[in-house]
Amino acid sequence: MTEPTHARWEKKRGIDMRAYDIILKKRRGHELSPDEINSMINGFTSGDIPDYQMSAWLMAVFFRGMSVEETCNLTMAMAHSGETVDLSRIHGVKVDKHSTGGVGDKTTLVLVPLVAAAGVPVAKMSGRGLGHTGGTLDKLESIPGFRVDLSKDEFIEAVNATGLAVMGQTASLAPADKKLYALRDVTATVDSIPLIAGSVCSKKLACGADAIVFDVKCGKGAFMKSEDDALRLAELMVGIVKGSGRKGAAIVSDMNQPLGYAVGNSLEVIEAIDTLRGAGPEDLRELCLSLGSLMLTLAGKAESAEEAGSILADVLDTGAALNKFADLVSHQGGDVRVIEAPDSVLPSARCLEAVPSVQSGYISEIDAEKIGIASMVLGAGRKTQDDSIDPAAGIILLKKIGDKVEEGEPLVMLHTNRWDTLESAADLVMASYEVSRDKPDIPQLVRTVIHG
Ligand code: URA
Repeated sequence: MTEPTHARWEKKRGIDMRAYDIILKKRRGHELSPDEINSMINGFTSGDIPDYQMSAWLMAVFFRGMSVEETCNLTMAMAHSGETVDLSRIHGVKVDKHSTGGVGDKTTLVLVPLVAAAGVPVAKMSGRGLGHTGGTLDKLESIPGFRVDLSKDEFIEAVNATGLAVMGQTASLAPADKKLYALRDVTATVDSIPLIAGSVCSKKLACGADAIVFDVKCGKGAFMKSEDDALRLAELMVGIVKGSGRKGAAIVSDMNQPLGYAVGNSLEVIEAIDTLRGAGPEDLRELCLSLGSLMLTLAGKAESAEEAGSILADVLDTGAALNKFADLVSHQGGDVRVIEAPDSVLPSARCLEAVPSVQSGYISEIDAEKIGIASMVLGAGRKTQDDSIDPAAGIILLKKIGDKVEEGEPLVMLHTNRWDTLESAADLVMASYEVSRDKPDIPQLVRTVIHG
């Protein structure tokens, strides 16, 4: 019998393991071997496996799922598809943190100096915002002069000199993820738990930390809408990290309303500085202390969550965490006057407009995703990766779930430099708020802690 055409093509392309057979095996629901997974990932990264075959494979994975072992093998193949960062020149246990993305999520700005002030080195590689969620790099770049384009040597030297540094993730880290994500985005295969876990963990493992803490968001403004899915993802990611020989822990946290009150780059920097000063919103402080406690225990700086919590409260109260933020800003070229006079250093918007409540009662819901989109419309975020952003734009929430509101009282203040965006942003804000007659339960912020 003659060889089928597809097999002849595969041989011509020099692929030992045939993509067709691997797709078929997964489509039939069988478990793939490490070699089969490596062959798919390496072949796709090098361009030998075309998009149409990878798309079919992704869809087979979407419907058939992957075992924990397959997901670990997928992650390792993706993590080793490009450069990996060697942090061994940094002394001590390096702990990283990853958030699955939310609205008003400025925890990294608080957590990095907080944990560094407690004596744990933090070498953080971060990303930019896309769609309704913000990114740490954009927030830091709203501080005039702040540089995130450090070389690897500058990055390591900064951590050794000051205990902390933040830089942008380079394209050479886990290139398989970048290519795969672009394909998942157009083939309706993003929301697969093993594919998300592989994507997130491959980038984190390539960044070289010894321990990783995940903040998996659940709810309306999050990738994972249900708490059960968020928990499954968190458990899987902790398992992958531990399987790779590092330490891992996770928190599942609520994203049914934005975190804190500020959404938008400069506005979030101001709120983070307030929090580092010991003030700031209660929910932001609580989440930072919970994540920070896990980071300290994984790093061996504390025996228990209680001990870690008291170390962290101390560095907040003494101003040590705020001083660490000042070190970060000055070492990376930013205007350090931002600490004492953020309002005069950070860009501010020319147009401010309040959005009033149309009824009296209690705030019972705030759709975080719609608030994130409204903030993007005002100029704070990107619709596509190439869009530019306005650091001054965003939203300050004046009411959160459980607050009492009178008809005509402002719900939020919109900040923008573009008058023409105000009307559609206000419509989105109106649609995101719900008001009830009775006082609602306030959503619990930290849902689950996985100590690892
Ligand atoms: N974030 C990622 O980095 N990857 C995913 O697949 C989803 C969210």
